[in-house]
Amino acid sequence: MGDISPSAKRQSVRKIYNQIAKQYAKDFGCKISDKKVIGKFIAELKPNSKVLDLGAGIGNFANYLSEKGFDCVCYDFSEEMMRESRKLYPDLEYILDDAVNIRNHFNHQSMDGIVALYSLFHIPRQDLDKLFSELNYILKIGGVFCLIIYSGGESDDFVDEPYLNEEGKKALYFNYFELEEILQLLDQNNFKVISKIIKPISRWRLASKKDSVDALAGKNTTKISIIAQKNK
Ligand SMILES: C[S@@+](CC[C@H](N)C(=O)[O-])C[C@H]1O[C@@H](n2cnc3c(N)ncnc32)[C@H](O)[C@@H]1O
Repeated sequence: MGDISPSAKRQSVRKIYNQIAKQYAKDFGCKISDKKVIGKFIAELKPNSKVLDLGAGIGNFANYLSEKGFDCVCYDFSEEMMRESRKLYPDLEYILDDAVNIRNHFNHQSMDGIVALYSLFHIPRQDLDKLFSELNYILKIGGVFCLIIYSGGESDDFVDEPYLNEEGKKALYFNYFELEEILQLLDQNNFKVISKIIKPISRWRLASKKDSVDALAGKNTTKISIIAQKNK
């Protein structure tokens, strides 16, 4: 994997989400999972807090948070995912760009909360330390960061994208994290973990593609949900 640049990995992810956005919206539009974790995140925030949804996709979580009274910005680099999100949730605020450019869009300590749900596993390992430091930079002191990632499989790998059939074989850049690794990334970037939930990855079938196999859930894989707070 070392011969593919981080930028090429990110662009391959963007291309795939552009290709699958319509079907993704059909299967996942308006559905909210992980309410327990999101509830814990919400409990840490004051009313009207500003929240950044990093890798917002079709906007389900951002919309849920805005219904709870938060001022939410959807950030994603897939034009087509964002197009689907705008159709579902035209009133949300949107920024179309790569996560690695986040500092261009937000001032120092301008946000109260950040969620990155099922998106960080598409960011190449080489980009993560800098990204976490920039997320820390834009969060207010005491601000809250909620992330959901997967653990227990190959890191820095390409996995099957079921919507794309043969074309999707080993096509989607994906990073399984080790728990220690994510805890270290948070610690070295000035975040204190306040909640950590580790569960098996639930198996799923895509509603529009009954023969799909869940390429991500394996024997030893788990879902890690973390809520962390920016230290002083
Ligand atoms: C599996 S979807 C999750 C969407 C949403 N957070 C959810 O849970 O429903 C991953 C999203 O992350 C976005 N993404 C992946 N890498 C990104 C990057 N480098 N910059 C911005 N967005 C990215 C993809 O375009 C996609 O919309």
